[in-house]
Amino acid sequence: MLDIAFAKPSLPLSGALVLLIAEGDKPSGLWKQADEATQGAIGRALEVAEFKGGKGKTCAILAPGAGLSRVLAVGLGKSGDLKQASLEAAGGAIVAALGREPTATVAAGGLKPGQAAEVALGAVLRGYRFDRYRTKEKADDKPKLASLTIATSDPAKANTAWAKLKGVANGVFVARDLVSEPPNVLNPAEMAKRCEALSELGLTVETMGPEEMGKLGFGALLGVAQGSVNEARMVVMHWNGAGGKKSKDKPVVFVGKGVTFDTGGISIKPAGGMEDMKWDMAGAGAVIGLMAALAGRKAKVNAIGLVGLVENMPSGSAQRPGDVVTSYSGQTIEVINTDAEGRLVLADVLWYAQEKYDPKFMVNLATLTGAIIIGLGHEYGGLFSNDDELAKRLTDAGETTGEKLWRMPLHDNYDKQIKSDIADMKNVGGRPGGSITAAQFIQRFVNGKPWAHLDIAGMAWSGKDAATTPKGATAYGVRLLDHLVAEHYEG
Ligand code: BES
Ligand code: MN
Ligand code: ZN
Repeated sequence: MLDIAFAKPSLPLSGALVLLIAEGDKPSGLWKQADEATQGAIGRALEVAEFKGGKGKTCAILAPGAGLSRVLAVGLGKSGDLKQASLEAAGGAIVAALGREPTATVAAGGLKPGQAAEVALGAVLRGYRFDRYRTKEKADDKPKLASLTIATSDPAKANTAWAKLKGVANGVFVARDLVSEPPNVLNPAEMAKRCEALSELGLTVETMGPEEMGKLGFGALLGVAQGSVNEARMVVMHWNGAGGKKSKDKPVVFVGKGVTFDTGGISIKPAGGMEDMKWDMAGAGAVIGLMAALAGRKAKVNAIGLVGLVENMPSGSAQRPGDVVTSYSGQTIEVINTDAEGRLVLADVLWYAQEKYDPKFMVNLATLTGAIIIGLGHEYGGLFSNDDELAKRLTDAGETTGEKLWRMPLHDNYDKQIKSDIADMKNVGGRPGGSITAAQFIQRFVNGKPWAHLDIAGMAWSGKDAATTPKGATAYGVRLLDHLVAEHYEG
């Protein structure tokens, strides 16, 4: 993780200087000092480049004099509405543009301590890189940027704000690391181990294997796992951060789909692009990252994260289309398509979660359906909920964090599509409304408790660089749910 320091504004005599400039800003502070020290070179360059501080615009000035290697101007947009997202995006733009510099000083006219910390968060998030398996990369080809010093009037206050945001950034990295790992490395047992390692943050972590789940009667989850030589796991992570009266409140509960690889099983997927199914555990990855974030920033809440971890493989022992399994809830399911496996995993984990923990609400995350990508593309995650207040809070948290959600319908008429001729239900409802019938299926396992289902199939992985998310695993859901908790469920 990029090293962050805060300091009172003072001009570096060497190295790189970043100027965050809003529309209409006039040279002052470090900007003015640097311009004077370089005999007006900065002002002239910005004028020639027609840089006016527009949002997302940058202008790099190389070797302007006065010992500076480079000055990078980053536009903040209109100074009136300096939202969290613009500050983070500016932080991200700094990292994207400064790859060759080892360090830089960042200055803006009167950046408040909290705002300085938000710039830091954007920079750190954009600086993520998964390079564990590159053995031949030359030092010259790696990004050099290792640290940023951000100028603010009150460095101590900025540090306090950053300590919390750093915990969140760490949670995002936990999720991105898990989602990026190849599926031969990250099988269910390995993923459970990585959860257990998070006990160092103060989480209590319990793991169940197939034997225990079998005794409980997790027939739906274990039916998916039975085709793989890699055993299933369920991991439960507890964060008990609520003190005083709040500690007696019902816990908030998060549940993740963790299919470490989804071949489709006997209903096998086509070969093209199947490698993407390594990230079919991104819902679980987000839950694990969220729990790390809550612990990392010592959130004043009691939260429980549960993940169902399986590998969906075709083999002589794999489940067949036509099989009927008995879920932990007692309800029977006719498995028409072994590729609709995520809902089978969630069925048992959700029933267990509501029965065991009597939650205030449950939110589950899952890369559940290709159909949600057809409907919403890669802009919004799909939100399904039986609780209007929870749905509104989630939608609002999505707008603030940029991890946007769009509410989709639930209705009895869709539920009819999953009626089975021989069991209580079947696991697919045909092509019409594929994401909705999947949600209807899951709803049958929440026992009427307040619940939301986030279908994140379109959001878990990004094919291109974005402001604070380099291409690859996004960790979508970590910041969204961290913000939900911070806004509504802490002291
Ligand atoms: N993991 C997939 C959904 C998915 C598709 C995630 C593309 C990310 C990108 C899920 O298990 C699946 O295979 N769903 C099927 C359901 C169908 C068989 C009813 C689908 O969407 O095709
Ligand atoms: Mn599938
Ligand atoms: Zn899947």
